[in-house]
Amino acid sequence: MDTITLGPARITDAQWIAETSRSLIEAGLPWSWTPRRVAALMRQRESLVVVARSGRELIGFALAQFGSESVRLALLGVTQAHQRKGVGQRLIRWIDEAAVVAGLFTIRLEVRVTNSAARRFYASLGFRESGMVEKYYSGIEDAIRFTHDLRAG
Ligand SMILES: CC(C)(COP(=O)(O)OP(=O)(O)OC[C@H]1O[C@@H](n2cnc3c(N)ncnc32)[C@H](O)[C@@H]1OP(=O)(O)O)[C@@H](O)C(=O)NCCC(=O)NCCS
Repeated sequence: MDTITLGPARITDAQWIAETSRSLIEAGLPWSWTPRRVAALMRQRESLVVVARSGRELIGFALAQFGSESVRLALLGVTQAHQRKGVGQRLIRWIDEAAVVAGLFTIRLEVRVTNSAARRFYASLGFRESGMVEKYYSGIEDAIRFTHDLRAG
């Protein structure tokens, strides 16, 4: 079995990230994370995009935006065949460690209210639900807001 490794994404990964995000995260919604948008985010100094590979095959991604007070996790996904192997947890740990180095101790994100697997995933990592945003996703679906205080242990 191939070893799973994490590392910074390359600009050539943008297409795969956008397409995978469309099917894993945005199913049933308009495609907002297009290849162009992902690539634009990757070029920003304030963003961090990490990918996971099994051998040479891309299997996971995390996109984070670093603000002045907190880090916003914009996208996180692991392909179905590689879920429940700890890859999502490793991607989050990478973002957490980068946040601490940047002097930021709060991670924020939104999840589709119907995405119970992701809600359980974030809860298992110490994130807490901090609110709801009605019709956050293209006016179609509500979001649950999650926050993780990295100093809370
Ligand atoms: C959510 C997601 C990123 C989790 O990635 P993953 O690599 O499968 O998660 P991990 O293996 O690191 O799981 C860590 C823990 O989270 C919890 N967890 C993960 N997936 C779960 C699920 N489907 N149901 C319940 N708990 C879950 C478990 O406690 C798990 O530990 P365990 O396997 O020892 O029980 C992945 O399921 C995914 O890509 N889903 C589709 C896209 C998505 O929803 N993204 C998040 C919203 S942007």
